[in-house]
Amino acid sequence: MKAAVLYAAGQPLQVEDVAVEDPHRGEVMVRVAAGGVCHSDLHVINGDLTAPLPVVLGHEGAGVVEKVGEGVDEFRPGDHVVLLWRASCGNCLYCLSGRPALCELGAGIRWSGRLADGTSRFRRGDQEIRHHAGVSSFSELTVLPREGLVKIDPSVPLEKAAIVGCAVMTGVGAVINTARVEPGASMVVVGCGGVGLNAIQGGALAGAEKIIAVDVLDNKLEYARQFGATHLINASRVDPIEAVKEATGGRGADYAFEVIGNVKTIAQAYQMIRRGGTLVVVGVAPMGAEVAINASSIMLDEKTIRGSLYGSCQPKLDAPRMLNLYKAGKLKLDELISREYPLEQINDAFDALRRGDVARSIIRFM
Ligand SMILES: NC(=O)c1ccc[n+]([C@@H]2O[C@H](COP(=O)([O-])OP(=O)(O)OC[C@H]3O[C@@H](n4cnc5c(N)ncnc54)[C@H](O)[C@@H]3O)[C@@H](O)[C@H]2O)c1
Ligand SMILES: [Zn+2]
Ligand SMILES: [Zn+2]
Repeated sequence: MKAAVLYAAGQPLQVEDVAVEDPHRGEVMVRVAAGGVCHSDLHVINGDLTAPLPVVLGHEGAGVVEKVGEGVDEFRPGDHVVLLWRASCGNCLYCLSGRPALCELGAGIRWSGRLADGTSRFRRGDQEIRHHAGVSSFSELTVLPREGLVKIDPSVPLEKAAIVGCAVMTGVGAVINTARVEPGASMVVVGCGGVGLNAIQGGALAGAEKIIAVDVLDNKLEYARQFGATHLINASRVDPIEAVKEATGGRGADYAFEVIGNVKTIAQAYQMIRRGGTLVVVGVAPMGAEVAINASSIMLDEKTIRGSLYGSCQPKLDAPRMLNLYKAGKLKLDELISREYPLEQINDAFDALRRGDVARSIIRFM
């Protein structure tokens, strides 16, 4: 079967034949319908974010269960599923305390590139090829731990469900789960790509009064308006901190969401919030990078800085919740998918993401 493999940072993906082994005990094989093209994978391609290589990339996706391993009774061939890039075991300290995105099992799979028994299901000849975040959705077939899937309503088109697997849960979740933005609040979203647009629509769902979108590209700001932004700021033309203050009575916003992963924009977003405000960092900065934030301001201004991994979601509750909101006409998924590419054109899809041409694009298998 065909899959897109990254052999080394800085190189294009190779679309080639990869062998996939049947699921082991507690695992599920999925025929992928669509995989989303997220900047976190581009960070891996660029070398800003490490992952064990070579790897079948892709951490956003949905598909149909093909086969189940021994002991798996909650899934059957034919089930429609969203793939979760953080499997959650339900038993570790983090799962038990309601923070499955921090699950020890899921983190182990992410950083080893191997499934729970310490081995990979992918190989090419004698070479082991790793899993990416336990998902590897840029592949016709993939194998996941049973803890890394959620069954969904088969009436939802799978290509729409795919983007719920990362962009939607991450962006909407940062607003409604991590920050718990309240009706009437003011918020800024810095970076209006696939994830940032979901933070914007999360703000609309939460009833925020002001949703201020900041980006350097006018096409992204136009998407932002469509997703519910009330104010648009092009940071390549004006000072975005001053512009946010101007839009919020001189005080700054109640919440800011940094959705780029740039140490400069994280520091800017900190300055965009009012005293007592909250900055939520969603963007993935290059590993080892440090942010310059005025130390006394943290105390004097009583500001809060929070990280948000996977939208602080309970993925097995939140994925179906997002799809129900979509079916009810309250969450935009159709408008998020600007382009569909076949697997053979995956490097073009990443080039379009680099240039900022798209809201989100997907690799379509079926
Ligand atoms: N926390 C998590 O769990 C999680 C999950 C998924 C993605 N992410 C991260 O979120 C970030 C966004 O991902 P995405 O897929 O939406 O990326 P994207 O490339 O689609 O969006 C990034 C946006 O930032 C804008 N931008 C770039 N530099 C800017 C600047 N200086 N000022 C203002 N805007 C600027 C770009 O024009 C683009 O619209 C990435 O860092 C990604 O790795 C985090
Ligand atoms: Zn992602
Ligand atoms: Zn766990």
